[in-house]
Amino acid sequence: MNETMKAILERRSTRHYTAEPVSREDLEQILEAGLWAPTARNEQEIKIAMMSDPAERKAFREAFAAKDGRPRFANFDYGSPVFLFLYGDRDFPYTEMDSGIVVENMAIAAESLGLGTVIIGCIRDFMRSEAAQPWREKIGMTEQDIFTVGLCIGHIEKPTQKQERKEGRIVLL
Ligand SMILES: Cc1cc2nc3c(=O)[nH]c(=O)nc-3n(C[C@H](O)[C@H](O)[C@H](O)COP(=O)(O)O)c2cc1C
Repeated sequence: MNETMKAILERRSTRHYTAEPVSREDLEQILEAGLWAPTARNEQEIKIAMMSDPAERKAFREAFAAKDGRPRFANFDYGSPVFLFLYGDRDFPYTEMDSGIVVENMAIAAESLGLGTVIIGCIRDFMRSEAAQPWREKIGMTEQDIFTVGLCIGHIEKPTQKQERKEGRIVLL
């Protein structure tokens, strides 16, 4: 199996991270992988904001928990040292789809570097709510932008069990 296939098949969502920071070199490569993802009409409308300051992360976690209230998401970012927010033009019809491609490119890049990731959708309602206005401003969003998805990145403390894939999802004609 080649290295690309290995990274795709072996990537798992990591929910246990060590406290070790992610190197700047690794982060640059991961972000580069995001920038080089294809986008519809080559619009390149997806922006990526990186938050790693522990105090800022704590404040965000608390703001989210206070509004969301779902106990299982109180630790929504699993203490990962790095968190990325993805957003883009709210009126472009492919912003959500392009975000998915950008985020997966970054997840695979991280996997290839021996790092763990988990894509985070559970903050989406919060990020689109009135309460998140200061956070949207902080991460550089304008009124024209819509938050799409997040990504935790860090060193893997505990590997995640493989989730089997459902059968019958490919139709061969
Ligand atoms: C769009 C999207 C949103 C997700 N949101 C969350 C989330 O909020 N919290 C979480 O723990 N995992 C989240 N996940 C991870 C999925 O639960 C995970 O990919 C799935 O269980 C398959 O496991 P695997 O990634 O280890 O193969 C999300 C994945 C995607 C693609």
